[in-house]
Amino acid sequence: MPPWVTLLDLLRDRLALTGTKKGCDHGQCGACTVLVDGRRVNACLTLAVTRDGASVTTIEGLARDGELHPLQAAFIEHDAFQCGYCTPGQICSAAGLIAEGKAKTEDEIRELMSGNLCRCGAYPNIVAAIQQVIEKSSA
Ligand code: FES
Ligand code: FES
Repeated sequence: MPPWVTLLDLLRDRLALTGTKKGCDHGQCGACTVLVDGRRVNACLTLAVTRDGASVTTIEGLARDGELHPLQAAFIEHDAFQCGYCTPGQICSAAGLIAEGKAKTEDEIRELMSGNLCRCGAYPNIVAAIQQVIEKSSA
């Protein structure tokens, strides 16, 4: 693979995993967020060759045994998407956020999800969905 291919282009164009979205292609919108070895990264800013051998999880890989990931279910429950374009990145980012264990309050969720932009303004419902999953997982 040519060294200039980004992880985003590898996923979408070469592996046909089109769940991960290309928004700005400049690291500013978060639409391309995936998990690399469990940590959230902007796939558009990551050269694929630099992550050779890493474990990459995209939105396609979050459901288990036909069961939606709790974040996917919570996004549906809270109506946390409109056009849905930012949603895969929001959900992958939220999964990374929860693994980081830093966000407890609504304000902390907003702050630590600030790299993920939503053009439709679904933020209140996105935060509510993430907060519900955090509360359930720490209950
Ligand atoms: S497409 Fe990567 S941050 Fe916008
Ligand atoms: S739901 Fe449309 S950009 Fe977020």
